[in-house]
Amino acid sequence: MIDPQTVKLPVIDAQAGTSDAQAPGAGVRKVYVETYGCQMNEADSEIVLSVMNGTGYEPTQDIAAADVIFLNTCSVRDNAEQRIHGRLTNISYYKKQRPELVVGLLGCMAERLRKQLLQEGSVVDVVVGPDQYRALPDLVEEARTGSKGLAVKLSRVETYEDITPLRTEGISAWLSVMRGCDKFCTFCVVPFTRGRERSRSLESIVREVEELSRHNFREVTLLGQNVNSYRSDGHDFADLLAAVAAVDPSIRIRYTTSHPQDMSDKLIETMAAWKNICNYIHLPVQSGSNRVLKLMNRTYTVEHYLERVARIQELIPDASLSTDIITGFPTETDDDHRRTLDLIARVGYDGAYMFKYSPRENTKAWAMGDDVPEAVKGARLAEIIDLQREIAHRNNQRHVGTVEEILVDGPSKRDEREWKGRTDTNKVVVFTRGDQQIGDYVPVSIQRASAATLHGAPLDSEGRPVYIPLQMTTTTA
Ligand code: SAH
Ligand code: SF4
Ligand code: F3S
Repeated sequence: MIDPQTVKLPVIDAQAGTSDAQAPGAGVRKVYVETYGCQMNEADSEIVLSVMNGTGYEPTQDIAAADVIFLNTCSVRDNAEQRIHGRLTNISYYKKQRPELVVGLLGCMAERLRKQLLQEGSVVDVVVGPDQYRALPDLVEEARTGSKGLAVKLSRVETYEDITPLRTEGISAWLSVMRGCDKFCTFCVVPFTRGRERSRSLESIVREVEELSRHNFREVTLLGQNVNSYRSDGHDFADLLAAVAAVDPSIRIRYTTSHPQDMSDKLIETMAAWKNICNYIHLPVQSGSNRVLKLMNRTYTVEHYLERVARIQELIPDASLSTDIITGFPTETDDDHRRTLDLIARVGYDGAYMFKYSPRENTKAWAMGDDVPEAVKGARLAEIIDLQREIAHRNNQRHVGTVEEILVDGPSKRDEREWKGRTDTNKVVVFTRGDQQIGDYVPVSIQRASAATLHGAPLDSEGRPVYIPLQMTTTTA
């Protein structure tokens, strides 16, 4: 358990690593982590840095300055794994130059491929699964003396509750509230790579959010593969959300991911009741065909899903919904595909992550074969993406002419003279930069919108424009 009196929140200066020209091996040892996959992995990498920091390793963002390189990996689709194999080939270049460099492969791929990753000739020295990060310092020490190490045992209890993540300085924090997944969707490796569901105590999570508030974080995303399964000492996920929202009204609370089966009325009511719980729900549907949903073991029907969406829209009228879609699941027909398109159109999602089905060994769907030809998968995916883009574009036009409260999170990627931020409903907004700071809430008048981004002008607290466009100054002068 975390003692609230002693808990410290270490923050990494994101700039420090890049400007650090010290040679590897000289002075303080340095650890570099590269993260792939989902937000759970992002959060885990901060745990890994914290564990390593406890034995004297400093984080670096410069791979060439590192004494230890970790890849925190994802197994969810084959292309995720192929990327890692490619990256290991690059890393062997560093290892050839410095044989004392320790290379660790962490995360879901470690769990799935285990010993295979250590086979002769491999650049990898240690393979460590998601529940074994406490063992990292010892394994790295042994690797420095030349022995390879493997720790992939999954745990029924590990939540890293007592480890304060080493977060990169900023305004948004990931916070894992539960680990593992017991749903066993037939296509998915996660129950095998992350093990059984288990939750952190509500008290420890609330204390961490209090600490984040003291350090001026403005956004906390509660994470779990299936957050609605959260259970601790009689508290459910809705109780947790309310407790976390009560900590600091100026902190926005988000969460991901919800399973449609467990999207309870209580959870929707709690979201509606708290202003700082964001009106954004990622609700993966996967398919619009009941036949396919059954084969996927998703445990809900399209009708149940739509009923949940209707309830969300009734209690939270401006709620924004996003989803995940898999196309080309074994036996998927044109008719199943059309049902998916229909569902997407009916819900009118603001965003979607859309994937071609990728068979994963040892899952139940693996045994169903992979009978939808690649070209058909590709064509169906393209159709889904086109439809979704059109819907998102149309939805975003509704914001034109409205004023949205934006949490500023940094400069826009395209133009340093613009700020970027998000609405409560998770839409990206870009606006001309004034004297606002990162972490400020700014009212922005939305002037135009594409499928991905809203563009606007900031207003002052009385609703007046704080920025006068250049051409107007010229004409009035
Ligand atoms: N726990 C989350 C998602 C975890 S994985 C949930 O239940 O929604 C993220 C997404 O990857 C899934 O929602 C699914 O759409 C996709 N995915 C998982 N396994 C896949 C596979 N074998 N092939 C293609 N996409 C997959
Ligand atoms: Fe995978 Fe299904 Fe669990 Fe999500 S709910 S992690 S898709 S098994
Ligand atoms: Fe990938 Fe593991 Fe997350 S398989 S999606 S990193 S839980």
